[in-house]
Amino acid sequence: MSIKLTDLKSTLFAQLEALEQPRDVLKSPQLKEAYAAIPTLSPGERSTFGRDLNGLKKELMLAIESRETLMQQADLPPIDVTAPWDVNKSPASLLPVNSGSLHPLMKEKARISDIFARMGFVVEESREIDDQLHMFETLNFPKGHPARDDYDTFMTTQVDANGEALIAPAHTSTMQHRMLKKYKSNLETKNGSIAVVVPDRVFRNEDLDARHEHTFYQVEGIFVAKGVHAGMLIATLKEFLQTYYAQELDVRVNPFYFPFTEPSFEFALSCPFCEKKGCSVCSQEGWIELLGCGMIHPNVLKSAGIDPAEYTGFAFGCGIDRLVMMKYQIEDIRHFHGGKLNFLRQF
Ligand code: PHE
Repeated sequence: MSIKLTDLKSTLFAQLEALEQPRDVLKSPQLKEAYAAIPTLSPGERSTFGRDLNGLKKELMLAIESRETLMQQADLPPIDVTAPWDVNKSPASLLPVNSGSLHPLMKEKARISDIFARMGFVVEESREIDDQLHMFETLNFPKGHPARDDYDTFMTTQVDANGEALIAPAHTSTMQHRMLKKYKSNLETKNGSIAVVVPDRVFRNEDLDARHEHTFYQVEGIFVAKGVHAGMLIATLKEFLQTYYAQELDVRVNPFYFPFTEPSFEFALSCPFCEKKGCSVCSQEGWIELLGCGMIHPNVLKSAGIDPAEYTGFAFGCGIDRLVMMKYQIEDIRHFHGGKLNFLRQF
């Protein structure tokens, strides 16, 4: 017997390593030769040789398969372990790629700012931590004033230079005093005015439900000049709302109370969805209470060094979330911060 199986094994495995198609090793002339030799053997040799040769072939098959698997894997792109996989699919597959977009509230905030900018208002930012001086004192809520309790203000454990707790602002009116001071010099120019809007984030310790969130957005408006009156306030707000909703609207003004405006009003607009007939958006009222506003209190002007005998002004504070909810008929304010992609992708 001239064929040694150990030699044949090393020959075949060396050939396997060198081949591009691992399976081609089965066509090896040395392997064929070994099989062809079987009938020439004596019956005793034949059975052991045949069995050992088949054993070698099995080993060879396993080696072929593992080389084939390695070659297939080498063709795959590298695995991105951070890629979002839909693990509920079987087999799990990559989630479709979607490019990101601005949050709906940010888009609407930009639209709102744009409308006011076209009306001549400067757009400013508010703060996310402020002091009680700007939240209350400069807005004519002296210490101990009962109306302070109307704002469910979050207090922090940090204190300012006067030892008073810093707060998370409960309204954008915290910026009134700063804006009056910053733009006061405008009043000295001919026909000068202060015209500022502040669209920004506010915080309240609310009981959460479909209409109340602890974090939401307001747009504050401030306008001061000589001879400003409540008619201008109403016209400005009506113009803004009609532009925002792109339709004619009726407005309703009811007396209200804020320490920093006198007179103060609650401003409602006719429901843009039912033309005052009553529907689910307006809770069957036909009107939607939208914002607080009024003529800036003389004490607020005085504290910023503006003479109320010479200048008058109006201010308003409007909830942006509510405006947007009405525009898109969003039924629950909590969707905005819920982080659900199904909601966000609609905008
Ligand atoms: N800051 C008031 C609020 O959030 C709204 C307001 C602003 C009222 C400006 C009058 C003038 O309730």
